[in-house]
Amino acid sequence: MKTRYIDLIEQTFDFPKDEFKLNGDDLVWNDLPLMDIIARHGTPLRITYLNKIGEKIDQARASFAKAFAEHGYSGAYKYFYCTKSNHFSYIIDQVIDKGVDLETSSAYDLEMIELLIERGRITKESTILCNGFKDDRYIQNIGRLVNKGYHVVPIIDNMAEIYALDEIINVPCDIGIRIAAEEAPKFEFYTSRLGIGYKDIIPFYMRNVGRQRKFRLKMMHFFINTGITDTAYYWNELSKCVSVYCDLKKLCPTLDTLDIGGGLPIKNSLNFSFDVDYMIGEIVGRIKDICEENQVAEPHIFSEFGSFTVSDSGATFFRIIHQKKQNEKERWNMIDGSFMTTLPDTWAISKRFIMLPVNNWEDEYERVFLGGMTCDSDDYYNSEQHVNAIYLPRYREDRPQYLGFFNTGAYQDTLGGFGGIQHCLIPKPKHVLIERKPDGTVEDRVFAPQQSAERMLQLLGYLPQEEPVRKG
Ligand SMILES: Cc1ncc(COP(=O)(O)O)c(C=O)c1O
Repeated sequence: MKTRYIDLIEQTFDFPKDEFKLNGDDLVWNDLPLMDIIARHGTPLRITYLNKIGEKIDQARASFAKAFAEHGYSGAYKYFYCTKSNHFSYIIDQVIDKGVDLETSSAYDLEMIELLIERGRITKESTILCNGFKDDRYIQNIGRLVNKGYHVVPIIDNMAEIYALDEIINVPCDIGIRIAAEEAPKFEFYTSRLGIGYKDIIPFYMRNVGRQRKFRLKMMHFFINTGITDTAYYWNELSKCVSVYCDLKKLCPTLDTLDIGGGLPIKNSLNFSFDVDYMIGEIVGRIKDICEENQVAEPHIFSEFGSFTVSDSGATFFRIIHQKKQNEKERWNMIDGSFMTTLPDTWAISKRFIMLPVNNWEDEYERVFLGGMTCDSDDYYNSEQHVNAIYLPRYREDRPQYLGFFNTGAYQDTLGGFGGIQHCLIPKPKHVLIERKPDGTVEDRVFAPQQSAERMLQLLGYLPQEEPVRKG
């Protein structure tokens, strides 16, 4: 009987697959020898493979180009990156290098944009989309940039925002309006709290936006919380939104763009199958059909893919430091870090990531649970998140076992509070950036060492705080 881990994987999945393959007993990801990286940097370890970001942007752009050609679509496509998915400078640098513009969600996001302007990374040629609910500071920051001549496009979330912006802005300004989507049937509420309801959009335009000259309505935006899925719900919401676009276009000649938001799903299992070309082809085809029925020119399409842009660049590694056998059936492999703090979505929304051992693939396997180091009983990863039971090479004290969680590049660092006070004071892991140069050589550099005890004691007020890096 075949009982090796490699046999289990080959019987269950089509393996080697995509970015995963083996070198002997060890896992290779995106042609990166993971065991060498772990040998150099230790665990727990968070890595970001920078090249992946550009690859993803190219992939989406190619899908839209293909769909536009297939459907004879006459608008243009523009890729925006939703900064909240991962704000770190090394990500934003990759994204800007690809000629991608940014979408922001808060006042502080715009302060980051101002710094990028100071550094010449963002110019007056760039477009900045400002989404989200806008408090006074966000309104002030938008106004300051618009008045200086930057192409900052506030996406109106509620009617009061337009009055507040009017107070600050004194030059012509392009705006968008966000449509509040109806939530999926399983949700606790009917309509998203973000945006303006379908039925209120036309009256809002007639009463306000259409009657003044300062604000020019250019775009309609919608974002479906459950993401882009091949479901009746998604297609229904898309159709409703495009229909409102068409109704509004008949009244508002400056309107020429539809922003379809983010929501392209990411791979969470080796079995994952999502055909990006098919979905984008369908979206483009349906937008075109509805516009044709309404005899309205098809809009330019913007997207704000966040997870899709960054998830696949991230991986997180742990070592199994001990196995606890709590009864005849339950074996707990304890990792040298925490799920709750390092991969908070596993705990908060039972999110599943691709999880694979990094070494010992030729060894026998066993069924285990994975336990984090905090003393919180919810700090675990098991079949609830993983959908299936977790199997790993059999634990042995005489050789190390490493495991990796893949596609962890979106949201985890910020939701986990990078560098802050962590649950049970389990430190943030070391973070390494990896880049393949044009000549094929791979370089890595430490972005942040493992969080120190001193830093935590500073934050907790036991040691003096560090001076802020930038004043003003
Ligand atoms: C307005 C808006 N755009 C884009 C995104 C990015 O979504 P995703 O990370 O699923 O691509 C979000 C995520 O919440 C969002 O609220």
